[in-house]
Amino acid sequence: MTHAADPLDLHPRRLRDAFGCFGTGVTIVTAFDPDGRAVGLTANSFTSVSLDPPLLLFCLDRRSRRAPVFQSAERFAVNVLHAGQEALSTRFARGTSEGMDGVDLVEEDGAPVLRDAMAVFSCRPHAAYDGGDHCILIGRVSRLRFEPGQDPLIYFQGRYRSVHVPE
Ligand SMILES: Cc1cc2nc3c(=O)[nH]c(=O)nc-3n(C[C@H](O)[C@H](O)[C@H](O)COP(=O)(O)O)c2cc1C
Repeated sequence: MTHAADPLDLHPRRLRDAFGCFGTGVTIVTAFDPDGRAVGLTANSFTSVSLDPPLLLFCLDRRSRRAPVFQSAERFAVNVLHAGQEALSTRFARGTSEGMDGVDLVEEDGAPVLRDAMAVFSCRPHAAYDGGDHCILIGRVSRLRFEPGQDPLIYFQGRYRSVHVPE
């Protein structure tokens, strides 16, 4: 016999599974640390916010060892991944000692960015808000580029997927 789940059960594990029903794209947020080393963090909390002024946000886990870099960076970039970049997403979801070795980066508007990303939004910090165990970082877009016609990397119910978009 199966038991219906208690709708009042907001245990973080269950909450995360429910949030996972919302399929998202995947980004890597990048910045230089105070020593000038490039740092990247996989984030699917990216959201467009405003066209005028041009604003976006992502939610930063305060417990991340890399959080201080993004909380203090004067520039950061949001790199939207295409379907061929799952390995990069996995890599930047864990803080590894390999850092950026072998990653094809260029500097754009004061932040390191992925040369091959589907879209890149270069940002200056605009505002930061309390978001519980996350911090909501709003960036003001200062520059952007994008390459349409590629298939996006999707994250849904804890797994990577891709959607083929016919031309
Ligand atoms: C698909 C995916 C999406 C993620 N999205 C976010 C996010 O939006 N914000 C965030 O802070 N961490 C996110 N993470 C987790 C971070 O990439 C990272 O693993 C975590 O913050 C631990 O970082 P640390 O190794 O610096 O401690 C995501 C991980 C994955 C696999």
